[in-house]
Order: sequence, then structure tokens, then C-alpha cells
Amino acid sequence: MQTVVTASGLMLQASEHPVPTPGPGEVLLRVRAAGVITAELLWQPTTHKADGSPRTNAIPTHEFSGDIAACGEGVSSFSKGQAIYGMNDWYQEGALAEFTVAPATSIALRPKSLSYEQAATVPIGALTAWQALTTQGHLQPQQRVLIHGGAGGVGFFAVQFAKSLGAYVIATASQDTVPFVEGLGADQVFDYRATRFDQELRDIDLVVDTVGGEMLARSWSVLRAGGRVVTAVSSIPDDAPQKIKDAFFLVHPDGKRLDEIASLLDAGKLQTFVKTVVPLQEAEQAYNPSLPSALRYGKTVVAVAP
Ligand SMILES: NC(=O)c1ccc[n+]([C@@H]2O[C@H](COP(=O)([O-])OP(=O)(O)OC[C@H]3O[C@@H](n4cnc5c(N)ncnc54)[C@H](OP(=O)(O)O)[C@@H]3O)[C@@H](O)[C@H]2O)c1
Repeated sequence: MQTVVTASGLMLQASEHPVPTPGPGEVLLRVRAAGVITAELLWQPTTHKADGSPRTNAIPTHEFSGDIAACGEGVSSFSKGQAIYGMNDWYQEGALAEFTVAPATSIALRPKSLSYEQAATVPIGALTAWQALTTQGHLQPQQRVLIHGGAGGVGFFAVQFAKSLGAYVIATASQDTVPFVEGLGADQVFDYRATRFDQELRDIDLVVDTVGGEMLARSWSVLRAGGRVVTAVSSIPDDAPQKIKDAFFLVHPDGKRLDEIASLLDAGKLQTFVKTVVPLQEAEQAYNPSLPSALRYGKTVVAVAP
């Protein structure tokens, strides 16, 4: 048996579950740390199964770092004891648990220069940012990209990747985090409470949105003809215009890309930031938006095992 933490609405509670068995193509992981997306507890895959029926007591967080405890049938790319990081599917059981299971194609060796806690901040944020800019956004060198939420868990990767792709990078952020986002290489950063970005900007090639709501709704007015908006924010009302629904995408697990991202991190060409670390026994605190933390930016991590 193992200790896991399950979600019932916004409430989390610890219980004992059997240790899962990896299926063909999967690995069993001893989880060390798990990254937190606070909105996850209310997402459809946390509250519903893939067939639409209600899901109860899901184990949250689908990005993690840990060690391979066992390999399922047909897995030859990893072996027991290797330190890895990665993600699994939203409908699988997550990583607020001593053990979890993930497809071998959704993980990579942990960046050598990062602790388990640092590594757990990377997979979903970095893959979402990369896919928003490239496969979804088709960003080209010299293009102008606007990134909403540049200090967040997706946004700080998006700013760094966009810069490395040769774009002119504009971001929105709260006043306290403007210097941080500038330090990541953004060419221009707007304090979203002080300045209306849509009154200042025109001819933007791509908007990458990680905030939603009003910020997303106002984004189309700054685009050049043929420009694109991509949003990762899933809280889109049913009656929203079709262009908003079309702008949404869900991150795809990609172990190969995580390998490349690990190399960038180890080479110092990409940085990640831990906002705060919460022990598994206090996991509910990690989802508290008012949780005190030394940093205003970065990602919250649950430390599952030393
Ligand atoms: N579709 C997908 O596959 C996918 C994957 C990952 C994440 N997501 C979603 O993407 C969103 C962002 O995730 P995250 O992990 O980056 O969240 P996060 O770490 O909480 O970051 C959000 C950032 O947005 C900033 N912010 C808040 N209001 C803003 C505004 N009006 N204008 C500009 N910035 C604003 C916040 O700054 P302050 O707190 O300083 O105000 C914070 O830095 C969430 O909705 C998450 O659920 C979706």
C-alpha cells in the first residue's frame, strides 16, 4: 500500500491506495516532487472521467520528478533506479502519491543540474510554452509575440523560449514581477494593472495567453492581419465566441522534447523557478492562492519524498 492525496472539489485528503502496476509501455515511478497548477482541482479531467461520467477522489498533479521503480512490458528506454521527470495524462492518477505510473514516452532523464523539486516545476510549464509558441503559434524569428502572464509557471518559459527563437518579446505581468520578466529577456513588459496593453500595441504576430478572461478577450485587437491567438486557459464559457474556443489547446506529453529541455537547463540556457515547496502532508496548502511565499513568481511544488 502507499499514501496518496485525493481531491474532492477543492478539498484534499490523504488515504491508503494499492501501489499501481505499470502496463505495457509504462513505468512505475517513486515520486519525489510534484508541480502544482492551482486551477487543476476544478478541471474537467479532475472532476470527470474521459467518458464524461463523474470522477471522484482523483489523485492530482500530472507533472513530477522521481525515480523509476519498475518498467512495464516493452520499455527498453529506461531502467530501474534512473532519476526522471515528466508528465502523465490528465485522466490517469497523478503524482500526489508515493508512486505513480506514466507512459515511457512522456518522461525523460531528470536534468542533472536540477534538484527533484526544481525538476518538477518544468514538464507541463515548459511543454505548454513550447507548443504554444511553435506547433500552435508558428512563431518565426523577428516576429512580435505578446505573452500574457509572463511571470507564471507557463509564462516564464514562454518568455525564455520566445527570446531564444529570435522573436521580439512583449509580456504582461503584475507590477512586482515586471523586473523578473525583464530579466528573462523580455523586450517590453506591461504592468497589467497600470497599462491597458490593447491601447499600446498593434501589429502583433502572436499572442500567447496564460491568463484568460478580459486579457484574452482584448487580445484580438492588437493582432496584425493574419496574426494568431493561442490560449492555454481552459475556463472558456460555453457561449464564448468560436475564435476563443479555437484558440485553446491542451499540452501534449513529449518525452523527446523534455530531453532537449533538460539539455538547455543543464547548459544554463533555460531557467526554472521554484516559488515555494509544501510537504505532501500539507498538500492542500499548495492550492491556496494566498499561500505566503518568498517569491512572487515561479511554481509551487509538493515535496513527496526526500
Ligand atoms: N491547456 C493546457 O494544457 C495548460 C497547461 C498548463 C497550464 N494551463 C493553464 O494555464 C494557466 C496558467 O498556468 P500557470 O501554471 O502559468 O499559472 P500561474 O503560475 O498561476 O501564473 C499565472 C500568472 O499570471 C499572472 N496574472 C494574473 N492576472 C494577470 C493579468 N490580468 N495579466 C497578466 N498577468 C496576470 C500572475 O501574476 P500575479 O499573481 O503576480 O498577478 C501569474 O504570474 C492556468 O489557467 C492553467 O490552468 C493550461
